[in-house]
Amino acid sequence: MRYLTVALAKGRLAELAMDIFMSIGMDCSEMKEKSRKLIFTDEKNKMKFILVKASDVPTYVEYGAADIGIVGKDTLLEEGRNLYEMVDLGFGKCDMCVCGRPELKGKLDEIPHLKVASKYPNIARRYFQEEKGQTIEIIKLNGSVELGPLVGLSHVIVDIVETGATLRENGLDVLEKVCPLSARLIVNKVSMKMEKERIMSMVKAFSEKTSEN
Ligand code: PRP
Repeated sequence: MRYLTVALAKGRLAELAMDIFMSIGMDCSEMKEKSRKLIFTDEKNKMKFILVKASDVPTYVEYGAADIGIVGKDTLLEEGRNLYEMVDLGFGKCDMCVCGRPELKGKLDEIPHLKVASKYPNIARRYFQEEKGQTIEIIKLNGSVELGPLVGLSHVIVDIVETGATLRENGLDVLEKVCPLSARLIVNKVSMKMEKERIMSMVKAFSEKTSEN
């Protein structure tokens, strides 16, 4: 039996995913210990787990370096990779939103050259240009995106809102909701053919665990 490799998005999603893998009989104990290691093996179940940056999870899965991945829908929408999205895991729930100063609510259409800062340029472009038919300028940032409207870099941002605390603490508000997000289980297309039985039993176990919650 060959090893199946699972790519986990480092951080909160990986922690939650590990709990599910443990509950279906996989051994993630080594990964639970804090270390700088990036690859972990469960010899008994012939599984490997790799910890990667969230935005790289779909890349590992598309190229087959990982058979399975656990990643947020935001990353899938942004990366647009060729893979199967199998299960909505129901955790890591949040929303993709257009945010900015509260006085801009309902007025975005009136701004002729709207500047939008985002870690998600593809999602932002699709939303404004394809859904709303509004031409915008996108400014790509890599973090602390909320600063954009505060220092005059952009009018608004397109970003994830979970608790809303970051917006509140920076005097910003949700202006428009783009879409809901949550963690997804994804599968490489060739792996799905070659290892259908093992992968489908994992997909089934994850679907059942997810519907329990
Ligand atoms: C994310 C997101 C928001 C924040 C939303 O940032 O980009 O800034 O979390 O969460 P909240 O609604 O619960 O406040 P992240 O922590 O990933 O850091 P970043 O600024 O480096 O993107």
